[in-house]
Amino acid sequence: MHYFITGTAGFIGFHLARRLLADGHQVTGFDGMTPYYNVKLKQMRHAALAQYPAFTPVIAMLEDRATVEDAMAAAKPDVVIHLAAQAGVRYSLENPQSYLTSNVTGSYNIIELAERHKVKHLMLPSTSSIYGANPTVPFRETDRADEPLTIYAATKKSMELMAHAHAHLYKTPTTAFRFFTVYGPWGRPDMALFKFVDLMLNDQPIEIYGEGQMSRDFTYIDDLVEAIIRISHVIPDESNRVADDKIETLSRQAPFRLVNIGGGQPENLMDFVELVEKALGQPAIRKMLPMQKGDVPRTYAAPDLLQALTGYTPSTRLEEGVKAFVEWYLEARRELQE
Ligand SMILES: NC(=O)c1ccc[n+]([C@@H]2O[C@H](COP(=O)([O-])OP(=O)(O)OC[C@H]3O[C@@H](n4cnc5c(N)ncnc54)[C@H](O)[C@@H]3O)[C@@H](O)[C@H]2O)c1
Repeated sequence: MHYFITGTAGFIGFHLARRLLADGHQVTGFDGMTPYYNVKLKQMRHAALAQYPAFTPVIAMLEDRATVEDAMAAAKPDVVIHLAAQAGVRYSLENPQSYLTSNVTGSYNIIELAERHKVKHLMLPSTSSIYGANPTVPFRETDRADEPLTIYAATKKSMELMAHAHAHLYKTPTTAFRFFTVYGPWGRPDMALFKFVDLMLNDQPIEIYGEGQMSRDFTYIDDLVEAIIRISHVIPDESNRVADDKIETLSRQAPFRLVNIGGGQPENLMDFVELVEKALGQPAIRKMLPMQKGDVPRTYAAPDLLQALTGYTPSTRLEEGVKAFVEWYLEARRELQE
């Protein structure tokens, strides 16, 4: 199979591409190497992928439609997995414009060109942030999720809506995922685990928002990749409609489905801090702060639809995943700072 994956220099795209290459597939990896965080880390990820002869990198921006078109025409992909995006909740308060160009205009280019190339399955990542401050838990894909609290979440919701309309009009089978706080080795420097470990190793205080009362449904990266690969084989159509209307999101108007990828095991932020302390073998200097603008108090995935479609639910224990991250970071740290 030939996979066209965007965001392969990013955290999730890198892991997914590496697994598919190791499984013997062809991967075209499209990434603009944006300077949102340390570009060295992105280059290191692409260098690791370049060890596989079946990997073809394309360094360009999603907004550059002609280049996306050329890359897709050259690849002739069976499946498109669009992971490139301006990610991050907090930065969307500082620079909302970059979310509009990458996540709305850029995503639309991918949606349209995937249809033009008649791919078997288009997959798009959305986010648990879409649920905003949803009062009922766990968050179900069938919940109303139209009160986003950030521009990041609003652009991801826009992507879901555009993809639905496009799938209705042109019948490209499309699955949109909602990811829940993905973490693990090669992770993102703007996310809590990376920041906490880095600050603690430098004996700096860590900032704990929401006075430690927030909780997150963490998903270990290998579990996420496994779920994406399983879902890639479940091309949305009536033959795989799940009987339970309370959980099924397969549209009646389009070959389009929304699926949470999360284990449904939220963890309190303070317990998470303790696991980081344990993995590093040192206490953190804790600076307790109120919730930040746009933060959601908790995330909690209902994993039932994912389980019904694939027989799989993420289950790696947070303690194991944090340990794996710390081991990777202690090795990669020097090269990252060069
Ligand atoms: N990591 C998480 O916890 C999480 C949670 C929910 C959703 N997501 C979504 O999953 C996807 C992957 O996230 P990630 O954690 O790997 O993020 P990441 O920032 O590590 O990777 C995104 C990649 O996209 C590239 N990119 C950004 N804008 C681009 C543009 N306009 N043109 C070309 N390339 C561009 C960046 O260079 C980067 O390498 C994103 O869509 C993100 O919104 C991630």
